[in-house]
Amino acid sequence: MSSSVTNTNASSKVKVPGPSLLGSISTLTRMWNDPIHFFDKLHNKYGDVVGLNIGFNKIFVINNAHYIKYILQENINNYKKLERLEMQTKLLFGEGWTNKINRQIIRRFFDPQHYASMDTAIADTTQKMLERWQTFANNHQPFDVAEEMMDLSLSFTAKSLIGHDFNTGQDNVAIAMKAIIDHFNARAVSNFNLPESFPTPANRRYLAAVRTVQTAVDQIIEERQHDGKDRADLLSVLQSWRDEETGIGLSPKLVRERLLWILLPAFEPIGRVLSWIWYQLSLNPNIELQMQAELVKVLGGRKPTFDDLPNLNYTKMVVQETLRLYPPFWVLGREAIEDDKVGGFYIPAKSTLLFNIYGVHHNPNYWDNPESFDPERFMPERSRNRPGCAHIPFSIGPRACLGYNLSIMQIQLVLAMVAQACRLQLMPGHAVEPAAMFSLLPRNGIQMTASVRT
Ligand code: HEM
Repeated sequence: MSSSVTNTNASSKVKVPGPSLLGSISTLTRMWNDPIHFFDKLHNKYGDVVGLNIGFNKIFVINNAHYIKYILQENINNYKKLERLEMQTKLLFGEGWTNKINRQIIRRFFDPQHYASMDTAIADTTQKMLERWQTFANNHQPFDVAEEMMDLSLSFTAKSLIGHDFNTGQDNVAIAMKAIIDHFNARAVSNFNLPESFPTPANRRYLAAVRTVQTAVDQIIEERQHDGKDRADLLSVLQSWRDEETGIGLSPKLVRERLLWILLPAFEPIGRVLSWIWYQLSLNPNIELQMQAELVKVLGGRKPTFDDLPNLNYTKMVVQETLRLYPPFWVLGREAIEDDKVGGFYIPAKSTLLFNIYGVHHNPNYWDNPESFDPERFMPERSRNRPGCAHIPFSIGPRACLGYNLSIMQIQLVLAMVAQACRLQLMPGHAVEPAAMFSLLPRNGIQMTASVRT
């Protein structure tokens, strides 16, 4: 535990700095227009822990990496996931991932033998996309790389988790999945959301999308139940799991809820990170050249496999740096169960804590020149003096992302395939703006042109 976290006065209740009641309410109502900027202002004005007082509900914004580590790792038993979010997603994910057993069930999927053949699936889907891009390149036709990366990510994630790629782009199941993601993002930045059972046009669209996805996934689960083959994917892991004491497995409904709970939050961040990578490479031609040199040296034009990844160090640093500049889950939250002290400040039970992940990743106390895109900052000699908890795109502690390694490997593979095949350039005059919604996404997409490498 860091000394700054333990440096607490156990008997006193040090008041957390922050705006007044009115100031807090006004902050919270305006915040969602530009939350990153607001969090930054709060941090500069009030410090590492900021208290937002809205009467009965206490909200604390935590900006210090060591404090976040303390909460998510060292005193994790005192904090639970936010109920508001769990409620919102109940329809799709049921009870979600609230108990330990789910983590045990799916951990098996993350054994490397389960994704040994995933590189072929990723290469095939990426190849199909590149064939389509050939037409864009021939016609000098700009296209939205952000949308392409979301489609690609959904395609290979679905293929590797449940053996279906939903013919992404045209299939109504893929369209419905993206509509669900859009719905969560829109709700995340709205001050007032009617419950999803209210028949507003947005809710009706969302419910229709949920039904489409549920029906399609139920059908896949049923087919797989009958054919009984172990395909070593997530669906097989879920279907073959049995409770050690009772011998009972998961019902088809539970299998579907757990599948979707992983599929949707897994494909979205991968798509977002890939989109930001192309944007940053187009702004930083020297970095692109360095990465290109590594790809030529290691792969020499052939398709990458998982075995090549340990030799693609520079490419990996490009991924890490993009995850730093654009952490897809830019804010995470927890609720305190019992009273606690964080950084000397009193945190009462039932308070909401928001971890400013984006703020930590852009904090000059941890990063030199934090706004610049500089993959080499992840070289061992430049990382030595930096706390590990300053880079937490996958969270930290016992509830951190289980797909951490897998995601980086998947992104590296796509990067190596696409960068060898073509060069992407930002359309002149197209302003790219990050929008901090549920995830950190490019508000108006990323319009680029492709030129084929010869
Ligand atoms: C760039 C890609 C990804 C990012 C940035 C990311 C980030 C995260 C974060 C921040 C959490 C913690 C959320 C919280 O504590 O509130 C999380 C949880 C999780 N992620 Fe990921 N994720 C990514 C991809 C994936 C993939 C590909 C999979 C699986 C195939 C996956 C599976 C999970 C699971 C199972 C959890 C829940 C762990 C638990 O609650 O015990 N993630 N992820």
